[in-house]
Amino acid sequence: MIQVVVTESYDASCAYVADMICKLVNEKPACKLGLATGGTPVPMYKKLIEANKAGKVDFSAVHTVNLDEYCGIPGTHDQSYRYFMDTNLFDHINIDKANTYVAQGMGDAEANAAELEAKVYEGGVADLQLLGIGNNGHIAFNEASDTLHATAHIEKLTESTINANARFFERKEDVPTTAITMGMGDILAAKCVVLIATGLAKTDAIRGLVMSDEITTHNPSTMLKMHPNAVVVIDKELADAVGYKG
Ligand code: PGA
Repeated sequence: MIQVVVTESYDASCAYVADMICKLVNEKPACKLGLATGGTPVPMYKKLIEANKAGKVDFSAVHTVNLDEYCGIPGTHDQSYRYFMDTNLFDHINIDKANTYVAQGMGDAEANAAELEAKVYEGGVADLQLLGIGNNGHIAFNEASDTLHATAHIEKLTESTINANARFFERKEDVPTTAITMGMGDILAAKCVVLIATGLAKTDAIRGLVMSDEITTHNPSTMLKMHPNAVVVIDKELADAVGYKG
């Protein structure tokens, strides 16, 4: 079941989710967080950094697992998701980096996917899984398609995703064309799933997610409707665009 939260602004959405995470960590200091990359969570991560620096939350016992990683670039590459997590969050909070996991982009891709799959369940599933959403409704890199995968696997990125992510690279040709990603079952296994979305490019994807009870592999996010504790946080601008009235 999806709980939709409509906020006044994107900043308010980020504050809402940052508060949820701080509350969870305060209640369960050794919790496990599933984390996401992309443009959307960056201001939310800034709020976590501020809260940590202000002494309002302690990440020293937290474990994390990230949703996905590009294939073919090392963790030192400035567009890798390991680099993203280090620079946007981990380097600025008191987390033990040994307790953070981002799949490896280099080496044996199948072995790396198997390692990610094991990390999803190691020590128990995530207490909270953070998600963004692609313009095509993808979550992690589970792309809109006739079929989806349950477990961690290698995904060929769609043109829509490559175009959307080209803004982070010098040239579109530099965007990796494959990625390692958690599967749908891995995401649905988390105890709570929290998706943040903003911007009108997400209108169709969010409409499919919050305006009907239909589930389709052509909008992978719709599978979250089967989760008992899924929260979708959108701002008023996006809610108005999809026609969501509450
Ligand atoms: P974005 O990406 O936050 O950069 O829009 C979200 C996603 O592709 O999941």
